[in-house]
This record gives sequence, C-alpha cells and structure tokens, in this order.
Amino acid sequence: MKLVKKYKNSKFIKLKCLSVHIGSQITSHLPYANMLNAISQVLRQSNYYFEYIDLGGGMGISYSKTNKSLNYKKYNNLIKKFLKKNKTKIIFEPGRSIIGNAGWIVSKIIYIKKTNNKNFVILDTAMNDLLRPALYGAFHNIIPSIKNSSYINKNHEFVGPICETTDKFLNLKNFQKLNEKDILIICDVGAYGMVLSSNYNVRAKPCEILINKSSVKLISKREKLSNIV
Ligand SMILES: Cc1ncc(COP(=O)(O)O)c(C=O)c1O
Repeated sequence: MKLVKKYKNSKFIKLKCLSVHIGSQITSHLPYANMLNAISQVLRQSNYYFEYIDLGGGMGISYSKTNKSLNYKKYNNLIKKFLKKNKTKIIFEPGRSIIGNAGWIVSKIIYIKKTNNKNFVILDTAMNDLLRPALYGAFHNIIPSIKNSSYINKNHEFVGPICETTDKFLNLKNFQKLNEKDILIICDVGAYGMVLSSNYNVRAKPCEILINKSSVKLISKREKLSNIV
C-alpha cells in the first residue's frame, strides 16, 4: 500500500488501495455481504481511508444446469450500500466471470472401448490440455457437436489418451450414440484452461481460435513436436 497524503487537521490517513479476495467460484452474495461488513468494520476502527478498494474476484459462473451463477444485482446492491458509508472507488478482478463460459475445447474421439457396464470414450484431449478435472475434480460438461436422437443407456466415461488415472474428464449416465472420429465439445474452459495447460507427456498444445460473431481469428498456433523437443 502506498501512502499518498496525510490530511492536515484530520486523524485520517489516505492510502492508495486496500485489496481483498475471499475465494473462488462463489455463487451466493452472502460471503460478499460478510466481506463488505468486515471491510467496513476495519475502516471504522482504523485511521485510514482508501482511494480504491479492490474487492478481488471469485464471482461464480454456471458450469452445469444445477449450479447457479452469482446474482450480480444482489452483489451490486450490497456494494451501493457500502459506498453510501465509505467514500472510495471499487476495483474488481473478474477474470473467470468474464471468460469462463466463453471457451470450448473441440475434441475428437480416438477410440471407444466398450465393456459390460461402461463405455470408455477416449478423446484426443488430455489432462495436459485441461487440468481442472484432474487437479480439483472440476466439472466440465461434454456435449456432442452434432446431436442425434439415439441414446445409449449405459455409463460413459470420457477420458484422455495419457496413461494416468487422473486423465479423465467426466462420467455421464447415458449419452447419445457415438462413433470414433466424432467431435465433442468440452464446455466452459475459458478460465484456468489454456493457462493451466502444459506439455506433459511430450504433448504439443492445440491452437486457440477466437470467434466473434462471423469473425474467426487464430490467436495461437497449434504446437508441433519440434517446438517442444
Ligand atoms: C487475488 C486474486 N484475485 C482474483 C482471483 C481470481 O479468482 P476467480 O477466477 O475465482 O474469480 C484470484 C484467484 O485465486 C486471486 O487470488
């Protein structure tokens, strides 16, 4: 924190910024209410005030039909109430909430291994490309690129081709009929996706394509083996 100015005839000291960050993937406004109360209390009991207060990130997004995203109206109302009592400018660090739902991995089925009680759908995407499921059991839905109407009533385990027990993405109870070379989409990988990817198992990273309405731009080239060895 940078000391900017000590006000004459005042017990208050103005500082540049107070930063807080209370966690990630928060889908209720209540932890933010507690956070703002805590900041108010600290400010009341100290001789400092801040030009900026950085409320950090953590705004949760929806990764599945059952998981709600943060109600921004309620968070906004809390902040407005806070700003009536505290004169400052608010900063956010909203990375995931802006980009999380905007990223998709386009993945091809290499092979389908059928066992009595389960179909293993082996993708050309692996844990090096998307680490979140292996790292902290994160849920990323998988959908077909082309829908059909024939459903297979059997467990499906969507996995990568690396020989690691954690190289798996999702179990689904049933799924539409699939064939090798079909294209599947791994959803909501815009945050902590490519930035957490690696060349583990000497796997070259895929390209990244930015699509904006009808404009399509290659923003990073597909790596070649010669780029990494
Ligand atoms: C200081 C700080 N700000 C912002 C973030 C982003 O959080 P999220 O992506 O969950 O919104 C993090 C994540 O850990 C963080 O540590």
